[in-house]
Amino acid sequence: MKKSDEGATTSFWEATEQLREFQALDSDIETEVCLIGAGIAGLTTAYLLCRDGRNVTVVDDGPIGGGETCRTTAHLTNAIDDRIYRIEKWHGEENAKLAVAAHTSAIDQIEQIVSDEDIECDFTRLEGYLFEAEESEDDLGDELKAAHRSGLKNVEFVDGAPVNGFESGRCLRFPNQGQFHITKYLGGLVDAIERMGGKLFSDTHVTGWEGGESPKVETANGPTISAKQIVLATNYPLQSRMFAQLPAYRTYAIGVELSKPLEPVLLWDTGDPYHYIRTQQENGKQILIVGGEDHRTGQANDGEQRFQRLYSWTKKKFANAGELKYKWSGQCFETHDGLAFLGRYSASEPNVFLITGDSGMGMTHCTIGAMLITDLIAGRANQLEEVFSPSRIATQSIKEAVPEVISSTVPYKEWVTPGEIGSESELKNGEGAILRDGLSKYAVYKDKSGRVIKRSAVCTHLGCIVQFNSMEKTWDCPCHGSRFSVDGEVINSPAISPLADE
Ligand SMILES: Cc1cc2nc3c(=O)[nH]c(=O)nc-3n(C[C@H](O)[C@H](O)[C@H](O)COP(=O)(O)OP(=O)(O)OC[C@H]3O[C@@H](n4cnc5c(N)ncnc54)[C@H](O)[C@@H]3O)c2cc1C
Ligand code: FES
Repeated sequence: MKKSDEGATTSFWEATEQLREFQALDSDIETEVCLIGAGIAGLTTAYLLCRDGRNVTVVDDGPIGGGETCRTTAHLTNAIDDRIYRIEKWHGEENAKLAVAAHTSAIDQIEQIVSDEDIECDFTRLEGYLFEAEESEDDLGDELKAAHRSGLKNVEFVDGAPVNGFESGRCLRFPNQGQFHITKYLGGLVDAIERMGGKLFSDTHVTGWEGGESPKVETANGPTISAKQIVLATNYPLQSRMFAQLPAYRTYAIGVELSKPLEPVLLWDTGDPYHYIRTQQENGKQILIVGGEDHRTGQANDGEQRFQRLYSWTKKKFANAGELKYKWSGQCFETHDGLAFLGRYSASEPNVFLITGDSGMGMTHCTIGAMLITDLIAGRANQLEEVFSPSRIATQSIKEAVPEVISSTVPYKEWVTPGEIGSESELKNGEGAILRDGLSKYAVYKDKSGRVIKRSAVCTHLGCIVQFNSMEKTWDCPCHGSRFSVDGEVINSPAISPLADE
């Protein structure tokens, strides 16, 4: 996430590993493949393409990994977030099998890269445990059967996760999962991409792209990039119209000191939203990283309470939980059918590819996308092309997705809220609010020094009214998840243009 100096939270990974930056692009260039976005999606794809002998250029408007990738918790799992039995229902047993195998091979791929490139990123194989939340309607028995049908024959019920001071109750054990330190991993990818001749540019904001026979990428500073292929690895695919299929969520994570070390495992409960838990070493000590408390972007402004709830939950569940040391939030996209959109943009744009719709499993989904797109660009057949196709038609899943789609489209009415303040003088330093002035609405922020920054509150995507996020100090759109800095600059698309000056 591009940070304002005023607010944005800092993740464990950013706090423990400096994000790298490159020069901005300052002249027109030609490349074979242009990757827009230097998160795990763009960098893994660039790495695999370089290994395939392609000439690649990666551009990002922030530092390497500075988007959602540095805000992850980096579980690497084939225990599908939406449950394997639902994937079977939505995609059929055969495709569910392929999807599960794809996540397994993504973990293997990451392990292989770590080994080939000798990346010191704490990559660890470990077990994962899915346990029942207090109020959950999920059926672990159904999931066990589906896991076995999908090829995960070693998944089994156990009486409890082997974690001292934590009572999971009867739960499902998923062997051979993974975890790593994401920003250290990205550092290794960057070194390898550079070594293989790939070019990387930071501080290079892409304002648009054209596909066709000779794709082109335009940047805000002026230079253009001519390429044979473009990969949209911008989390939300820049310039696409997929917003109704990609409801955006904020999710929250904390890092808590542990008084006694725990067995390293991954843990997930069946709540909605669910909790996701892992440990991570820091200077010889262990930090417990706990995530959860998700909500639709722009539809809540109570981040601090969500952190407190996560912390209370952690202290209740883990006898060894100590001081709260880190807290951060980030953005995820769900899809209507539990699988990411990966591959060719559309039949009419054969030279444009995309990776989006993480569905809570962006580390593996982005890696699957990278492997798939590398094959598609090389003209190699890949049986995952149809399974993850961005053009796939929703059947059964669309019925369950309808409430999501509706809440993506009705907010035009719902979010036409009255002004929150009557005048700028009501704002304290460091606060933002919506101000109504006649028929116009303004997003008004008073910075720490008392300077007032006033922008139109109308989201430049489709016109909803943005809402203030007081923890990240951003303006978040409740309709399709666009986010803007207090200066009005775009942080997360689908919006492309900044909030208008007043
Ligand atoms: C709190 C949290 C916990 C998570 N936990 C897990 C987990 O345990 N396991 C898991 O698998 N997934 C997890 N995820 C999801 C996962 O982290 C993300 O799906 C993944 O990192 C997305 O990577 P990406 O490369 O697609 O996007 P990003 O990392 O956001 O990269 C996109 C890049 O594109 C750049 N960009 C965007 N627009 C432009 C433009 N116009 N011009 C130039 N550059 C642009 C951005 O600056 C950014 O660097 C979690 C996410 C969050 C927020
Ligand atoms: S993101 Fe679509 S209207 Fe704001």
